[in-house]
Amino acid sequence: MAGRDSIAPATASTGVPLLDVRGVTMRYRTPEGALTALADISLTVARGEFVALVGPSGCGKSTLLAILAGLEQPSEGTVALAGDPQARRLGRAGYMPQRDLLLPWRTALGNAIAGLEVKGVARGEAQQRARALFADFGLAGFERSYPPLLSGGMRQRVAFARTVLAGDDLLLLDEPFGALDALTRASLQRWLLDIWGRLSKTCLLVTHDVDEALLLADRVYLLSARPGHVRLERRVPLERPRTREMLARADLLALKAELLAALDEQQERSLAGGRI
Ligand SMILES: Nc1ncnc2c1ncn2[C@@H]1O[C@H](COP(=O)(O)OP(=O)(O)O)[C@@H](O)[C@H]1O
Ligand SMILES: [Mg+2]
Repeated sequence: MAGRDSIAPATASTGVPLLDVRGVTMRYRTPEGALTALADISLTVARGEFVALVGPSGCGKSTLLAILAGLEQPSEGTVALAGDPQARRLGRAGYMPQRDLLLPWRTALGNAIAGLEVKGVARGEAQQRARALFADFGLAGFERSYPPLLSGGMRQRVAFARTVLAGDDLLLLDEPFGALDALTRASLQRWLLDIWGRLSKTCLLVTHDVDEALLLADRVYLLSARPGHVRLERRVPLERPRTREMLARADLLALKAELLAALDEQQERSLAGGRI
């Protein structure tokens, strides 16, 4: 994807965002009464764009991703895929849930093709596609390994391969590096940065790590404390290819400070409200 760096991640080509979320509200019924997890969320993700969603814990990030993946229906609002609010979302997006467990009794390759199998792709073809991705993901030679024998970083890459294979062109990633130690996390961020340039997918990544959002994303949405709604939306003024050193630029430091201050404020509200 040599040309990717010069392509502005905007809706320029068609004007229609790949993902268009309008006025999404989500209420759950709980034994204690109604709980509003999301309040009037509106956001867009353009085709080919990498968008990060940052917010305090409990603000409804995972709820939103489950709605976008088609696993839940919002109480109010619409989600349009490529301009179609009626589009069936289930199976269209590659969805990596927050706790993405690999099946321990299946090999790495067997796990990676799980989504394709569900879609009815023939096993041989599914394996062939997975093998090609394994080579690119630094997993060659580990096709027959079982998840408990893989490192945490490798397991996440297998889960990511499964997500990429299962989805069409939209990836929904829910804190994919959240459970990893700092070093593995940093190296997987670098890896995703690199692989992203070649995948030509559209990505919505949930993270609570502002640095991660700035390093990877074209745009960042910051959500409020529960019920989550969009507090801030900022474009990340970094060209690609990117390096971590770029985050030390004065404009990036100022943006980081702004996002951290807003996040702190919302986290405080969460704590004060007993919401987490
Ligand atoms: N199925 C559910 N039933 C009732 N409440 C839920 C359900 N799923 C999530 N919640 C509540 O919705 C809020 C948002 O949760 P979640 O989306 O997991 O937040 P986040 O991912 O931002 O930490 C939390 O208060 C959570 O307890
Ligand atoms: Mg979550």
